[in-house]
Parts: sequence; structure tokens; C-alpha cells
Amino acid sequence: MSRNPVDIVTSAMEKYGSGREAIMQMLTDVNRELGYIPEEAIRAIAAAVGVSNAEIYSVLSFYSFFSTEPRGRNIVRLCNTISCRMAGAGDILAAIEDELGIRAGETTPDDRVTLETTSCIGLCDQGPAMLVNDTPHTRLTPDEARRIIAGLQ
Ligand code: FES
Repeated sequence: MSRNPVDIVTSAMEKYGSGREAIMQMLTDVNRELGYIPEEAIRAIAAAVGVSNAEIYSVLSFYSFFSTEPRGRNIVRLCNTISCRMAGAGDILAAIEDELGIRAGETTPDDRVTLETTSCIGLCDQGPAMLVNDTPHTRLTPDEARRIIAGLQ
């Protein structure tokens, strides 16, 4: 059972203080425990630090690894930048979407997988490339991508 977002922020404030420099640490703690940043946590952090909610949202929008939506147990990030697109990332995306029955940007109804596209992940010479929970997979084929996705618990 996960903790209440406000309790997580309160514990984070005890650890890191309530200065602006604590914002990232508070967000990181909430994200670690809940897997995303709910609006309740945003309001609690803004109140703890004494800034507007908008300021917390602007920090969130800068860092793509924070999400304000609940996410799946596995995060799949397929590179959608030019080198990988030329190497066939479109076919990989189609195969994964078909395998999961969702589109990029969505989470499976059973919370098993969140599928995202991302800009370059630094594996351009080995595309198409994706990260699955931060583990890189390179030179993907549609079949290989399906196999990896099917193996996620
Ligand atoms: S273009 Fe895909 S990893 Fe760089």
C-alpha cells in the first residue's frame, strides 16, 4: 500500500528542508514511491516551499522522467529521432502498439506497460533503439520488440 502523497512530501521536507533546492528531491521521492507525481503532491510541495503550483509544473515539464499520470510497472521508451526512424523505428512502434493494444503515450489497462516515444537516447548507430526500464535494446526488429514486450511482467 503506497503512502499518501502529502505524507511523502512531509517526510521529504524533514529530510531536505523547504528551500527551492529541495523541490527536485521532493519530486524524486514522490516519483520513487508512487511512480508518478499526483496533483496533491504538487500542491503540497508548492505549499511547503512557498511557491506557486505553476512553478512546480514548470519544473515537471522540464524533466521528461516525471509524469503527472499514473504509469505502468514497466516503462518502454522507443527512440523516435531521425536515425532510428530511418532504421525502421516506425515498424517497431507499430509492432509494440499491436502487441500491447495501446498507442504511444498510453498505459495498458492492467498497468503492465507504459509506452512512450522519446528523442535520441544516444544509441543512434545501433537503431532502432529503445529503453525498457532504463535497459537499452538495440538493432530491434519487429519480432524482437514483440518478444521483449511479451516478456514484461
Ligand atoms: S536517433 Fe535513436 S538513439 Fe539516437
